[in-house]
Amino acid sequence: MVSVKSAVVAALAISPLSEAANTVNELVVKATGGNVSSPIMYGLMHEDINNSGDGGIYAELISNRAFQGSPRFPSNLDGWSPVGGAQLALKNLSQPLSAALPTSVQVSGEKGMIGLANSGYWGIDVKKQKYTGSFYVKGEYEGKFTVSLQSALGDKEVFGKVEVESQSVAGEWTQHNFTLVPRKNAPNSNNTFALTFKAEKAKNRSLDFNLISLFPPTFNNRPNGLRPDLVEAFAALKPKFLRFPGGNMLMGNTIDSYWKWHLTLGPLKDRPGMAGTWSYQLTNGMGLIEYMQWADDLKLEPILGVWAGLSLDGAFYDPNQTAEAVQYALDEIEFLTGDAKRTKWGAVRAALGYPKPWRIRYVEIGNEDWLAGAPASYEAYKNYRFPMFYKAFQERYPDIQIIASPSVFDNMTIPAGAAGDWHPYLTPDNMVDSWDRLDPLTRDNLTIVGEAAVTHPNGGLGWNGPLGSNPWWIGSVAEGIFLLGVERNGDKVIGVTYAPLLRNLNRWQWGMTLVQHAADTKLTTRSTSWYVWKLLGEKPLKNTLPVTINKGGINPLYWVAGESDKGTSLFKAAVYNTTEPVSVSVRFEGQEKKGAKATLTVLTGPEDPYGFNDPFTGVNVVKEMKKTLKAEAGGVYKFSLPRWSVAVLETEKRHK
Ligand SMILES: *[C@@H]1O[C@H](CO)[C@@H](O)[C@H](O)[C@H]1NC(C)=O
Ligand SMILES: *[C@@H]1O[C@H](CO)[C@@H](O)[C@H](O)[C@H]1NC(C)=O
Ligand SMILES: *[C@@H]1O[C@H](CO)[C@@H](O)[C@H](O)[C@H]1NC(C)=O
Ligand SMILES: *[C@@H]1O[C@H](CO)[C@@H](O)[C@H](O)[C@H]1NC(C)=O
Ligand SMILES: *[C@@H]1O[C@H](CO)[C@@H](O)[C@H](O)[C@H]1NC(C)=O
Ligand SMILES: *[C@@H]1O[C@H](CO)[C@@H](O)[C@H](O)[C@H]1NC(C)=O
Ligand SMILES: *[C@@H]1O[C@H](CO)[C@@H](O)[C@H](O)[C@H]1NC(C)=O
Ligand SMILES: *[C@@H]1O[C@H](CO)[C@@H](O)[C@H](O)[C@H]1NC(C)=O
Ligand SMILES: *[C@@H]1O[C@H](CO)[C@@H](O)[C@H](O)[C@H]1NC(C)=O
Ligand SMILES: *[C@@H]1O[C@H](CO)[C@@H](O)[C@H](O)[C@H]1NC(C)=O
Repeated sequence: MVSVKSAVVAALAISPLSEAANTVNELVVKATGGNVSSPIMYGLMHEDINNSGDGGIYAELISNRAFQGSPRFPSNLDGWSPVGGAQLALKNLSQPLSAALPTSVQVSGEKGMIGLANSGYWGIDVKKQKYTGSFYVKGEYEGKFTVSLQSALGDKEVFGKVEVESQSVAGEWTQHNFTLVPRKNAPNSNNTFALTFKAEKAKNRSLDFNLISLFPPTFNNRPNGLRPDLVEAFAALKPKFLRFPGGNMLMGNTIDSYWKWHLTLGPLKDRPGMAGTWSYQLTNGMGLIEYMQWADDLKLEPILGVWAGLSLDGAFYDPNQTAEAVQYALDEIEFLTGDAKRTKWGAVRAALGYPKPWRIRYVEIGNEDWLAGAPASYEAYKNYRFPMFYKAFQERYPDIQIIASPSVFDNMTIPAGAAGDWHPYLTPDNMVDSWDRLDPLTRDNLTIVGEAAVTHPNGGLGWNGPLGSNPWWIGSVAEGIFLLGVERNGDKVIGVTYAPLLRNLNRWQWGMTLVQHAADTKLTTRSTSWYVWKLLGEKPLKNTLPVTINKGGINPLYWVAGESDKGTSLFKAAVYNTTEPVSVSVRFEGQEKKGAKATLTVLTGPEDPYGFNDPFTGVNVVKEMKKTLKAEAGGVYKFSLPRWSVAVLETEKRHK
């Protein structure tokens, strides 16, 4: 990861002092006098826009695996094609697989091996690894099923296949499980999954199928789990919390199609899915438990969004209906945290195989309630929707930190004890300008920055203009400066997270993201912002420390100082748009020994401030340079930072 080049060392040497405003900074970090920071400062927020789990972080490889539909997105055969001259027809059988999955596919044909093939989520990654699959079939069949992974191109080369002995009988749905290890890696992801059977051996030369599923190895080997390459990219950021489930997904498109947590539980055959808010049907294979497991696996504090009676079309609940929504949210908390024996919903959880209660310390009431349907819906949120939730939670779960979905910047008066949520999506310049936006707040104005990203280029048209096509370096540096401002206010901020986390290269609305991906895991690409958020987030401040300025000042250098929980001192800085490098001299009060050592890590980007990490070239435009600095007389560390750079200086552990 770390490459120390000689050119780098030269760049870090002190440059000739210039007297231009603020290009020379002499700073002293005080030994005491700061504030204790939130212990969960940097986190993650899921949903990934336009691939909410499905085709995103959820590892399922088969698209449209159970023909789920809704009035908005009716069941269809998207992703499926016939094999061996078969006919495929959707059926609502009088005996469906389950109430949740009423629609299945009937595969009929004349002779030979017939069946159906799935193209995955824009392809399937085929490697020499263990795939775990399952399908349900109904109909009398004495023979074998063949399951295979094969190329979608040219000669349709088969990379791996397995035969599954039929257990299928008339009048019953039977589950068939299998594992499959391809004998070789496919050269690319243009592959399909096929499931076939011998027509002549099936009564009526026809069988019904549903819930056809295939998983590669998952993170932590969780059944029904997540894509390892993507989870690892997030784990490497060393996050501390997970805000879920959305986002817009939580709200739903219409007042009766919000994210209903109780329908995201249990066996996949009992999950109906829902009309997603990004133009497609969701499987809800990634449900409440899967989110909690993700949080468990990365030791993340869950920040659970509960539905607050507002949908994206602006419809909202009256007070009577809101009372039901409040109860539904309380039930959700009881489901997660209730005693397995003494509570109704705790017992439901235990029956699903999770006797041990989880702990929920943060709950957010709704999502962006200042936006959809405003002003009427927002008035309702301020007047009764939020107050009803807040009162009920204070009574039932007084230890849970309640977060309102608007922030003080959205004209919401947050009652004492509650927090707000602020979502700055800005241009690079505006993000930099926002670096001190939190300064006037007090601890009574506690907030989370539950979503943040630079989304539009400087000089653009704001929300009426084009979104950025990719996170570019200038925006990532601007986010870095904003994060320094957030950390300076770490006593008033619960945490901060980038959004949207993920972007599927085949289907997306926002180009801005931390990680880009496709079926082909070789395309998984960490954006320029990923590098900035990692550098700043992996060493969060335990507490801030005041900085006195002997020379220089904020802009173009921005900074925050404090201590880590490892007993080291930290000085984090970033330089925005300037013509000449900025020279920095930093002294940590009480650590004035000449020759003491500190590690300086500097991120710099491409010449073009709008340069980005392109998955198709694989070039990472972010350069990381790491160097050990030795303190000069008086304990002064000197270095210089070029424009558009982000840096962290960390002293050695203090010996007490
Ligand atoms: C199955 O039932 C759903 C819900 O009633 C309906 O929308 C759909 O058209 C039906 N599909 C078929 C193939 O009959
Ligand atoms: C298939 O695997 C699932 C998950 O491990 C298991 O619950 C189920 O009982 C298995 N079904 C059969 C028929 O073996
Ligand atoms: C095959 O998949 C790769 C991604 O792995 C993609 O770039 C390429 O366009 C695909 N080729 C065809 C012919 O579809
Ligand atoms: C038998 O096959 C016909 C034609 O393929 C189909 O319409 C019918 O539903 C099938 N009957 C059963 C019991 O599967
Ligand atoms: C989701 O992606 C599809 C395909 O790229 C696009 O047509 C659609 O507009 C997107 N949905 C939203 C809400 O952006
Ligand atoms: C709410 O419930 C009360 C008592 O049941 C009823 O009198 C009132 O009409 C209801 N209001 C609305 C808007 O439905
Ligand atoms: C907050 O108030 C300002 C000034 O009245 C207004 O411009 C802005 O739209 C309001 N924001 C929201 C979310 O209501
Ligand atoms: C911050 O909290 C204080 C004390 O509760 C309150 O008076 C003030 O209005 C809040 N600030 C904003 C911007 O809401
Ligand atoms: C600590 O908090 C106080 C009160 O908000 C503030 O005035 C002071 O600047 C903060 N100190 C640091 C080092 O951020
Ligand atoms: C950097 O600042 C210069 C001088 O103010 C300005 O002309 C230029 O547009 C800025 N660059 C970017 C990428 O904003």
